[in-house]
Amino acid sequence: MLSPNKNLSLDLVRITEAAALASGRWLGKGDTDSGDGAAVDAMRIGFNALNIQGTVIIGEGEKDNAPMLYNGEKVGTGEGPALDIAVDPVEGTRLLAYGRPNAISVVGACPAGCMYNPGPSFYMEKLVVPPEAKNVADIDAPVDENLRNIANALGKDVDDLVVFVLDKPRHEKLIMAVREAGARIQLHSDGDVSGALMAVDPRSGVDVMMGIGGTPEGVLAACAIKGIGGQMFARLAPQSFVEKEALEKAGVDAREILTVDALIKSDDVFFAATGISGGGFLRGVEYTGDGAVTHSMVIRGKTGSLRYIESIQKWEKLMKFSEVKYD
Ligand code: FBP
Repeated sequence: MLSPNKNLSLDLVRITEAAALASGRWLGKGDTDSGDGAAVDAMRIGFNALNIQGTVIIGEGEKDNAPMLYNGEKVGTGEGPALDIAVDPVEGTRLLAYGRPNAISVVGACPAGCMYNPGPSFYMEKLVVPPEAKNVADIDAPVDENLRNIANALGKDVDDLVVFVLDKPRHEKLIMAVREAGARIQLHSDGDVSGALMAVDPRSGVDVMMGIGGTPEGVLAACAIKGIGGQMFARLAPQSFVEKEALEKAGVDAREILTVDALIKSDDVFFAATGISGGGFLRGVEYTGDGAVTHSMVIRGKTGSLRYIESIQKWEKLMKFSEVKYD
């Protein structure tokens, strides 16, 4: 266990800032791997300066053959608290590569043994709602019934609601059902960690997130939701025969409904995210010639604190000792 006075998120945010600063240079360059690689390298250096015994439970390499902070990798100095770590150095690699909004760098952490390990699962169905709707939302309910109940709990009409959905062929029916129910939709090509965060943030203009996205992204989103409130109902949703077979082989029950408490089994959870490409949610990296400005959010589960941090870096000093070349 960590000391009750230690807010590790304030250390983690330096790592997401570093990843954002390193990868932000790749905005719109059409190169998914280089942006991701720059973020991974910066993140690994950042982790290794941190007094933790971290094990990466949620890395994000295997699905896309991206450069890894791979599952099982040990991070940190090997001193200090034993932690499970979730990372997505660039959540939304295509958003970054094609200069679209909402690419962010994200890290979550909780005491060792408390983070859901998704094994060979790549995809997960998710329903994310604000705190007021957490007792009425039902991942098994028809879309119109769900949206009626959620709207009711939020004191809204269904046609007031905005639902975040990833714009994927697999969501054709879901999108039709949301439209038929009368709700409005934000379609995003990628980035459902941002979608989940928006769904639990009353100021975001999004009320609900629905649909199938990455399993690692689901666990990362759970780190944040556990801290700031709201609920996510999730269920593994294998999208290929190979994935389904791998889950069966690993003895994973893909029918189980997972809530935030099942995904993160401790209140001692930490989350940090830094904007890379910018958007309505977190502003992106602004390079100012002599430095850069980043915008981040940090969450601590135990106290429920949520901080927004603007950081100003000046190359003149930073580049004298930084292992990563940001300028
Ligand atoms: P990356 O971080 O790997 O770029 O993931 C982007 C993303 O859009 C996630 O936000 C989402 O959960 C997942 O991909 C959806 O996967 P797919 O694009 O294969 O449908």
